[in-house]
Amino acid sequence: MNGITDSVAVVTGASTGIGDAAALRFAQEGASVVVADINTEEGNATVEEIEESGGEATFVETDVSDWEDVQAMVDTAVETYGGLDFAFNNAGIEGASDPTGDHPMENWDQVIDINLKGVFQAMKAEIPVMLEDGGGSIVNTSSIAGKVGFPELSPYVASKHGVLGLTKTAALEYSEAGVRVNAIAPGVIDTPMVDRASEDNENVEQSIAATPLGRLGRPEEIGDAAVWLCSDDASFVTGETLVADGGFVSQ
Ligand code: NAI
Repeated sequence: MNGITDSVAVVTGASTGIGDAAALRFAQEGASVVVADINTEEGNATVEEIEESGGEATFVETDVSDWEDVQAMVDTAVETYGGLDFAFNNAGIEGASDPTGDHPMENWDQVIDINLKGVFQAMKAEIPVMLEDGGGSIVNTSSIAGKVGFPELSPYVASKHGVLGLTKTAALEYSEAGVRVNAIAPGVIDTPMVDRASEDNENVEQSIAATPLGRLGRPEEIGDAAVWLCSDDASFVTGETLVADGGFVSQ
């Protein structure tokens, strides 16, 4: 992929699943990677894996719902690697499954704080640094739940629809300044989140059964697409959502 060598990338939610796969791909393509997550053990494992394959990475314990943590994450990119070119704002949680009328308020607050406010705060911290360096590229993780509704997941679905709104808005605000902002909308991907979600929500099994390609996606299939969207190979793409879902929302 063009334009990734000798760059600096931040990946949130990079300890496991899609973020882990994206961090590895960024490093393979020659980026120095800031691995940001609340899960220190798995985050350090991501860094080790990158270093063992000859790449460069640093872990920063980051709760994306905490503004000071998010600022410290971006500061680490600047202080350790001299700037910030790319960001994959990917951290997210599935939250509890309950119909809207019975949904616990604390679950609404937690899911919105991490999945939606987390993406907003990340962009708020990242964009000024990118502007100082003359531009950059951001990819935010939405979901097929940003395109269609799923029963019992109202905060999750609202957060992922909201991520698309934030993405389009920031794309319009910063295109002339050289910052592209896109979203990725994965279908059902084989990660720890799906393992957890399938235990208490039958949507997951139904969604796998209803995927035209007939299988779960692999984390690498999303990580690679996110890195491609950041790269110069996608230089005329901004404000867009790349749906990588095995055909699910095309039905
Ligand atoms: P995952 O659970 O393996 O990874 C999520 C990562 O985010 C974990 O490393 C977790 O520690 C981290 N995280 C959670 N809360 C955090 C916080 N407050 N601050 C920083 N990091 C935090 O799950 P997966 O599947 O890799 O999820 C990544 C993203 O992809 C999420 O935004 C999710 O909503 C989205 N997604 C996943 C799909 C799937 O089928 N697996 C489908 C569509 C979207």
